[in-house]
Amino acid sequence: MPMEKHEYLSNVWKDGIFDNKVVFCTGGAGSICSAQVRAMVHLGANACIIGRNVEKTENMAKDIATARKGAKVLGLGAVDVRKPEALVAAAERCAKELGSIDFVIAGAAGNFLATIDQISSNALKSVMDIDVLGSYNTLKATLPYLVESAAKYKVDGKTPPKAGTGGRIIFISATLHYSGTPLQSHVSIAKAGVDAMSVSVCIEQGPKGITSNVIAPGPIADTEGMARLSTDDGRKETPRLIPNQRMGYVKEIADATVYLFSDAGNYVNGETIVVDGGSWHTQAIDKGSFKYPDFLLSGDTVTGVAGMKKSKL
Ligand code: COA
Repeated sequence: MPMEKHEYLSNVWKDGIFDNKVVFCTGGAGSICSAQVRAMVHLGANACIIGRNVEKTENMAKDIATARKGAKVLGLGAVDVRKPEALVAAAERCAKELGSIDFVIAGAAGNFLATIDQISSNALKSVMDIDVLGSYNTLKATLPYLVESAAKYKVDGKTPPKAGTGGRIIFISATLHYSGTPLQSHVSIAKAGVDAMSVSVCIEQGPKGITSNVIAPGPIADTEGMARLSTDDGRKETPRLIPNQRMGYVKEIADATVYLFSDAGNYVNGETIVVDGGSWHTQAIDKGSFKYPDFLLSGDTVTGVAGMKKSKL
């Protein structure tokens, strides 16, 4: 559904700052990443979003394109970030049809709730493959284009860049592993890897003009993540322990994205921007849905959330 500008972007940014630029985003049909891309498109960029579900990805691309008259948004479905060759083909198609890849958002992720003794080796592997390898595959497929873009749009921090910025990547991570989060070991392990990857990219590719940063969203309202990770009752309890006393909105992640990709974010490299209303500092273990330690000791499996384990029958 087309969104009002105030739902995905603050008024502080200037229209046109991403004119003639292209953003490539995995997980781009999801609630958070689509808002990030929509914000970039509103401010001038064209975009290519990648997803597994063909219909969902193509429909979201059409929807995002309504953010700016004349915007081009490709929706490439049936692309699994676990398949490096599929990402290479998607990046090639993006650059061929839209002219370049200047910005990348590695957003595709896998998540569900279960304890470490309830998951199988294959379950951990699935999340590691989507989050860690998927982010790596995204980086690897797009890096040549990012290097080209960084060379073309050099910034020195003093001279206002005539044609804007380029050569930047953002990895979407989480705050789960900062203090440890029950029922989320698999994702905590994977996101720690994603954070480490971003720092490595900063160190190794920074001298070529690349910036690599992480955005770690907290609880964001009305997203697939919240539906997968909390029950209806749990969601009512969540704001109480967040210093800002509310959940975040996708717009707040989009604003952080624009900051990092724009001239405002030139000197931010190898960093993590946590956008969570202070939530991780009070990341208490009994936030509502699954009371600690009663739930863990009960041996129950999680029910009442989206993304449950499929029956093998
Ligand atoms: N609890 C425990 N194990 C689970 C599980 C759950 N809720 N959901 C899946 N698994 C296990 C499966 O049983 C399987 O292990 P097994 O072969 O030993 O039985 C393994 O995880 C892989 O599951 P499968 O459904 O075959 O993998 P998939 O590649 O189709 O899906 C997931 C990957 C599991 C990460 C799935 O949740 C997914 O596709 N997520 C994408 C969307 C998403 O999570 N977005 C994040 C928003 S925050």
